[in-house]
Amino acid sequence: MTVMDLKLSVVGCGYLGATHAACMSSLGFTVVGVDTDPEKVAQLQNGILPFYEPGLDTLLAEEMKSGRLSFTTDFSSVANADVHFICVGTPQSKDGLAADLTYVKSAVKAIAPHLKTGSLVVGKSTVPVGTAQSLREELMKIAPEADLAWNPEFLREGFAVEDTLTPNRLVVGVANDLAEEVLKKVYKPILDLGTPWIRADLPTSELVKVAANSFLATKISFINAMAEVCEAAGGDVTVLAKAIGYDPRIGNKFLQAGIGFGGGCLPKDIRAFMARAEELGAKQALEFLREIDAINLRARLRVIDVVRSELSDDLTGRKIAVLGATFKPDSDDVRDSPALDIAAQLNAAGALVTVHDPKGIEPARRRFPLLQYAESINDAVKDSDLVLHLTEWKEYRQIDPVKIASLVKNKIIIDGRNMLDRDLWRKAGWKFRALGRTD
Ligand code: UDX
Repeated sequence: MTVMDLKLSVVGCGYLGATHAACMSSLGFTVVGVDTDPEKVAQLQNGILPFYEPGLDTLLAEEMKSGRLSFTTDFSSVANADVHFICVGTPQSKDGLAADLTYVKSAVKAIAPHLKTGSLVVGKSTVPVGTAQSLREELMKIAPEADLAWNPEFLREGFAVEDTLTPNRLVVGVANDLAEEVLKKVYKPILDLGTPWIRADLPTSELVKVAANSFLATKISFINAMAEVCEAAGGDVTVLAKAIGYDPRIGNKFLQAGIGFGGGCLPKDIRAFMARAEELGAKQALEFLREIDAINLRARLRVIDVVRSELSDDLTGRKIAVLGATFKPDSDDVRDSPALDIAAQLNAAGALVTVHDPKGIEPARRRFPLLQYAESINDAVKDSDLVLHLTEWKEYRQIDPVKIASLVKNKIIIDGRNMLDRDLWRKAGWKFRALGRTD
């Protein structure tokens, strides 16, 4: 049997699973993607991506044509596969900080009766440490001839294809050599590129993912804390970030001060990590993450304070244009989006908020139907008392401040992402304010 004779299944076809399925198919494997949502499956089966991710739409369409890739709602279709990737979501639970493991548990349960001898279940979802071991024990009861490994995924939305096909490392948590060998076969084309391979035990592999996301969240909140100090002391956080970033021990990535992190990963991962540490009796070790979360949420309030200060503290009936709804550019994901949260809070305070986003309007409308949405930047800013830049889409850096000046009522712009060219806006007569910059 050659490596490519290995057949794969991918359970859960959201951002992670759909990307993984299409990418594995592009490496030459036969892949079946399974999801419980018939609408999503129907779209994928027609080669249509149910969400926006640069490059993935074309890849999906190509792979569907290749005949190697298929999607279904029927869990028994995994029976032919040798390796099964679990890519379902682990959202924050409704009643606390912990992760909701319902989907992971039911995914493993749903495929277990169909597993053939020697098959390997590989978890990719982000889970609290200890989950893999207990899932492995459960699996062994139903399918004693199968095994379970963990293989955390580090892909960033907006770079999902690139991060999957050329990751900066591959981490596998395995209980024995055989599982590692199987995973090495699956990832051979990626390993051949010189990608670092890290073998870990099951708990360490789960921890790697949450540790990485906690570190990233810490970096962002660190620079946002510095932004607060800069505001108090009359400094400029963008200059500070640039200056400390030249130290290679610090590095200049993830030091962009602004309204903070959001999305389907960072916020819920640090919270779930705290909850799990408490269960393990290591609560104190992660107390600092509570502060990271607090700094992050405070950034949203700080921008609202700046808006209030510009509009004489009375938001009633004031027209505010919000540029950006998604939690980051090059994505249509609005999960825990700081931009949308701020828009909703301003709206609740009586402002008339109009939101623009290049890709996220429909998902945003589904979440906040009462906000106003505009299809173009010009429509969004028309007659506005103030413009807020909240997601750093390239389109917004290309706005000509001279041209849109004639559309607004007041030439006031607040840059919540520290990405716009301050001098350019000021030259065009705008009052320009940003987080962490007093000037
Ligand atoms: C993150 C991790 O980066 C990725 O490795 C993991 O697999 C999933 O979670 P993602 O959620 O796609 O990826 O977003 P990321 O690029 O990490 O950005 C998260 C948030 O932080 C965004 O809201 C972004 O705007 C914000 N951010 C990022 C900042 O505010 N400042 C920065 O300097 C960097």
